[in-house]
Amino acid sequence: MSQPKIFISRLIPSLGLTLLNEHFQPDTWSNEMPPTREKLFEKTKGIEGLLCTLTEKVDADLMDSIGPQLKVISSMSVGVDHIDVSAATQRGIPVGNTPGVLTDATADQAFALLLAAARRIPEAERFVRAGKWVTWSPSLLLGADLAGATLGIVGFGRIGQAVAKRAQGFDMRVLYHSPNAKPAYGATSVDLDTLLKESDFVSIHVPLTERTKQLVNADFLSKMKPNAILVNTARGGVLDQSALYEALRSNRIQAAALDVTDPEPLPMESPLLSLENCIIVPHLGSASKKTRDMMSLLAAKNLVAGLRGERLPHCVNPQVYG
Ligand code: DGY
Repeated sequence: MSQPKIFISRLIPSLGLTLLNEHFQPDTWSNEMPPTREKLFEKTKGIEGLLCTLTEKVDADLMDSIGPQLKVISSMSVGVDHIDVSAATQRGIPVGNTPGVLTDATADQAFALLLAAARRIPEAERFVRAGKWVTWSPSLLLGADLAGATLGIVGFGRIGQAVAKRAQGFDMRVLYHSPNAKPAYGATSVDLDTLLKESDFVSIHVPLTERTKQLVNADFLSKMKPNAILVNTARGGVLDQSALYEALRSNRIQAAALDVTDPEPLPMESPLLSLENCIIVPHLGSASKKTRDMMSLLAAKNLVAGLRGERLPHCVNPQVYG
């Protein structure tokens, strides 16, 4: 029997790659940089299975160029905003993602950023390296306390809840805003305005959709407390970066910590990079060894199931199964 043609768009961790190499002879893009759009079109023509990451835009044009034999799109990510899911659904193509396995790593990252911003860790580190540490001082680089502070979680899915669980251990009061999510880990459901009015920390955990695009805009920021710290580990597109720059520059809010930006990478000319009260790291929410291994395995399993005509273990458009 002939082998199905598969394209893997990045060098994913070996756990997933090994599974695929056992069953198939995939064409794997092994450069450090992702394929250009042109290369992606070239490499995917006639394939039956695509395993991609969030660096590849998988839209209707690409699906049409690949051809009607395309059986499955599997992304090594939980977010699928880089894929036109409705175009895939219209074509009957199941789209797989990797939920669950990255919940703890991403919640850890949100909490690490929250603490780093609260206690001004990157700023303090720059201070030491610049040779400015001349003495202990009662008022040097004072930060914010977590104990007794209120954390507002916007989006109370798996990751939002895992953040709430961590916050319990830090004796924080936790509010959340999320349509239809049930209370968990002592968190209280409130409307968005109340959350913004009462929170000392606001952490974003919504997927990027038409509804959440630039949810964090000038109006949102204007409702936050002046001492508030914003953390975003969701998607850069959820936030209006010019509005955030203005809010940070004018000390309308105290600080922000971003794991994600729009675009990625953030251009070096971005004014956000000139601010002392803005931490920016390069989209590392799920970047632990074990988590990336598990993500690659799940993505490989989704791909194998799709190629065999079986239901994907994690499918974002189950409508394709009728
Ligand atoms: C995801 O899986 O969507 C994450 O953003 C990758 O870290």
